[in-house]
Amino acid sequence: MQLEDGFHDVPAGKLATVVTWLEMRAVPAPRPAPDRDDLSLRRVETPGIEWYRTVFRRVGAEDWLWFSRLVMPEAALAVILHDPGVEVYALRHGGEDTGLLELDFREDGACELTFFGISSELIGAGAGRWLMNRALEIAWSRPITRFHLHTCTLDHPAALDFYRRSGFTAIRRQVEIADDPRLTGHLDARSAQQIPIIR
Ligand SMILES: CC(C)(COP(=O)(O)OP(=O)(O)OC[C@H]1O[C@@H](n2cnc3c(N)ncnc32)[C@H](O)[C@@H]1OP(=O)(O)O)[C@@H](O)C(=O)NCCC(=O)NCCS
Repeated sequence: MQLEDGFHDVPAGKLATVVTWLEMRAVPAPRPAPDRDDLSLRRVETPGIEWYRTVFRRVGAEDWLWFSRLVMPEAALAVILHDPGVEVYALRHGGEDTGLLELDFREDGACELTFFGISSELIGAGAGRWLMNRALEIAWSRPITRFHLHTCTLDHPAALDFYRRSGFTAIRRQVEIADDPRLTGHLDARSAQQIPIIR
């Protein structure tokens, strides 16, 4: 469908986001992360849905309106998370799971960074770079030629530049329309107050 230039109405109760798709096709130049002995990464084999959604909410719901894995039926989510090609990792800090790294190897020769983020109290102090370095090590240790992801304008405003500094190049842009999850009951109405609710 051809989208005409100009302003387009978004129905009340809906969100509209600009999604940027990025990829890298070779191992990027290393970027040092500050020493963070207080961080570790744990692979979570066969993640429980309740655990997964708790960490997903902790990282993405309150500030960034992550909703895709909350609105999906549990059985459909379990099919993804329990697929042998999907790897879920938790960033551990202070005895808690405070970050999420999800890598999807279901397509031959490729890896998608499907979810990546840390909880708000860790942001801006090197934990993101530390986690990205782990993601790059794991992804490129496999027989892939492409590592890719998408990010949207609901995400942390520094995320897109962070990914570009990490070695990803933007290749595609889309607009996504979706129900506002604060109006469907999937997220608290006080979440992400920087994005007004339009009823
Ligand atoms: C996107 C996100 C992962 C970035 O993480 P972050 O913690 O803000 O990033 P960091 O502080 O680790 O890194 C930023 C830079 O500051 C540097 N830095 C941070 N603290 C530092 C310190 N104490 N000493 C030296 N350098 C430091 C990092 O090395 C990094 O440098 P580089 O990017 O030039 O290599 C994080 O904002 C996040 O999880 N947001 C919420 C979820 C989200 O939006 N995810 C993306 C969705 S697709």
